[in-house]
Amino acid sequence: MELKEAIEGRKSARKFSSKKADWRNIIEAIHSTQYAPMAGSIFPFKFVVIDNKELIEEIAGWAEQDFIKQAKYAVVVVSDEDMVKSSFPKKSGVFTHQEAGAAMENFILTLGDFGLSTCWIGHFNEEKIKKALKIPEENCIEAIFPIGYSSEKTKKPKAKSNIYNILYFNRWEHDRMRKVEKIESRGPEGY
Ligand SMILES: Cc1cc2nc3c(=O)[nH]c(=O)nc-3n(C[C@H](O)[C@H](O)[C@H](O)COP(=O)(O)O)c2cc1C
Repeated sequence: MELKEAIEGRKSARKFSSKKADWRNIIEAIHSTQYAPMAGSIFPFKFVVIDNKELIEEIAGWAEQDFIKQAKYAVVVVSDEDMVKSSFPKKSGVFTHQEAGAAMENFILTLGDFGLSTCWIGHFNEEKIKKALKIPEENCIEAIFPIGYSSEKTKKPKAKSNIYNILYFNRWEHDRMRKVEKIESRGPEGY
């Protein structure tokens, strides 16, 4: 799959078919996270792969999101900020979360390359899920990903904003791009 197709074709899935993913594809997607940029090349994440139906149901309950139950696999992404703190004491919090985002985007895109879908889950009761999975208290659950084959009929995803509304040249609110758009009335391809 081409990179542009992978990025622009990705879509959250909240309905999964009964077909089970090949677990090796999930492991490969986790492996892809290790190529994401990391401050000081420190990799502060661990992953819990869950294929136990009862545990997935319990997670769905603590996330208050029933659709998670349909997934045959879920991956819980766990960070250890202390690993970052030793090298970056003042920025460990923001670095860890930024790195989690970079790692998880690799993860999602690699799943997509295998035809698999997921939905980034950020709403959940962290304490309860840590307890259920025996994750150490001092660690942080960054996100949870139920994984499967999407059974949703979806339209081609749309960009979440217009490039002309988010782009400045040289200085904040220097809106050359918008002026150019007005004059030329043509898409970004021309630039
Ligand atoms: C930090 C974060 C937290 C999210 N938490 C949830 C969640 O708890 N439940 C859910 O259904 N979707 C969640 N999402 C997915 C977004 O709702 C989804 O990305 C958005 O609706 C856009 O759809 P798309 O992913 O298909 O582009 C989350 C996404 C992010 C980045």
